[in-house]
Amino acid sequence: MKRTINKMARLVCTALVVCLLGAGSACGQAADNDIPRLEQKNGRWALYVDGSPYFMLGGQSGNSSTWPAALPGVWTAINGMSANTLEIPIYWEQVEPEPGKYDFSMLQMLLDQARQNKKRLVILWFATWKNGSNHYMPEWMKKDSKKYPNVMTKDGKFYDSPSPHAKAAMELDAKAFVEVMKYLKKADPQHTVIMVQVQNEPGSWGSVRDYSPAANKLFDAPVPEALLKPETLKELGVPAGSKGTWAQLFGDRADEYFHAWHVASYIEYVAAAGKAVYPLPMYANAALRNPLTNPPATDYESGGPTDNVIPIWKAAAPSIDILAPDIYLTGHETVFKLLELYGRPDNALFVPETSSGNNALYVYEVIKNGIGFSPFGVDRRGGGATLADYAEMPLSKDYKLLAPMARELAQWGFEGKIYSAVEPENNADVKIDLGGDWEGVLSFGAARRGTPAPADAPARRPTGKAMFVKLGENEFLVTATNCRISFLPKGKNAGRDWQYLKVKEGYWDNGFKMNRVLNGDQTDWTGPYVGAEPSLLLFTLTTR
Ligand code: DGJ
Repeated sequence: MKRTINKMARLVCTALVVCLLGAGSACGQAADNDIPRLEQKNGRWALYVDGSPYFMLGGQSGNSSTWPAALPGVWTAINGMSANTLEIPIYWEQVEPEPGKYDFSMLQMLLDQARQNKKRLVILWFATWKNGSNHYMPEWMKKDSKKYPNVMTKDGKFYDSPSPHAKAAMELDAKAFVEVMKYLKKADPQHTVIMVQVQNEPGSWGSVRDYSPAANKLFDAPVPEALLKPETLKELGVPAGSKGTWAQLFGDRADEYFHAWHVASYIEYVAAAGKAVYPLPMYANAALRNPLTNPPATDYESGGPTDNVIPIWKAAAPSIDILAPDIYLTGHETVFKLLELYGRPDNALFVPETSSGNNALYVYEVIKNGIGFSPFGVDRRGGGATLADYAEMPLSKDYKLLAPMARELAQWGFEGKIYSAVEPENNADVKIDLGGDWEGVLSFGAARRGTPAPADAPARRPTGKAMFVKLGENEFLVTATNCRISFLPKGKNAGRDWQYLKVKEGYWDNGFKMNRVLNGDQTDWTGPYVGAEPSLLLFTLTTR
């Protein structure tokens, strides 16, 4: 017996020493099981972090903030706005200042500071493409435009956008990205970094594709087999079984589709190489086109993952898990269309950039169906701004209320238990089907429900929104701003009288905690009114 214990103790000691030296594949293995990952169930998505769903209440720094002098301002913004995740670039020019010499001191500083601030990171690999240009390539590459060329326009001039046909650049990008992922794998066993953006808004402004002789030759060749799957062709509006050159198959969209295929294939090469080392979830972000008008590719950044070329990107870049919309376009019809186009059974909805002003209104919509939401340039107020300044932003108030329940929200969203709506542009009441025997009813403006604004009243900019989590048949957890909340019986409750059993107002701290019960004036006139400060309300309803 004693001998067995000694032997076991020796084994445990050996395992510990191996772990402490960081050399044991067994230890690495244990950490590897918890690598952040995307899960899909019944067409819905969750980002798993440390083994359970995580909703990113994010904020993205400005483009030039990954420098020691700028980081304190970034953390003030992220902490002030109660975000749980910072999206921040790392720059190829900073990582590889000389060919083959890599510098990860900034990446290490980001890891250290994120851990001190108890935040997660999404790393943005600013490399071959940044908003369609090569501006983050190392200087030694910028000096060799022959080896690392830009695209050529139709009239034979080079344009400020890297060519996706530049194999030498692609190989160097992949090599540097592999070093980044190797470094992360080693330096981040606690998974502070939960996702990686590969490039930034790739594609080309100013030329629909590369019209260089080498690119033209490829353009005149047959479309690759990988793009000829019936389901891909169907989505692109081409009959199954079609074959031919780009122009033969895709007509006046051929230039753009060709460019999208090659930009996506280049990024696939880079992403696949990085993933082989350390398989974090990876995504590409899109500079969007108007999703309602089918504009020509001369009107937007051609070749990036715009809505019309999602099937091309999916076919060319299987290592890119998510195609993600940067939503700067505004207006309900446009934004809802974008959320629909990018939230697909084969694509998790993730909004990595948006405006913190108007589009903050859609945060609940993304919580309902997506994995993360992040306004851009959150540290733009600079070093003088305080935590309190950032906490004042309307979205920060939502984040503050939601951050303690971000895990639960991710789980509820994954299970399809969340319902939400925003105030329409005409400020009319909204009904929300709550998936059972109740509807939610929202009314906007301080008016009592049932006393609509006069028909000629000017529409206000919509600020109202509400999100309902269905906890039970008659129990709803609701967060809202700028609306009155009520319910209507439907289904088996249709036509019955009903009343509130209890309306509790509170906050989340490992479960719902109550501050007070709302009753009397606070719930008469059909239900509670929530102002600009978001509330967390727990409703139980009963029929009579
Ligand atoms: C979108 C880009 O992805 C960001 O990096 C930044 O350049 C913003 N546009 C600027 O508004």
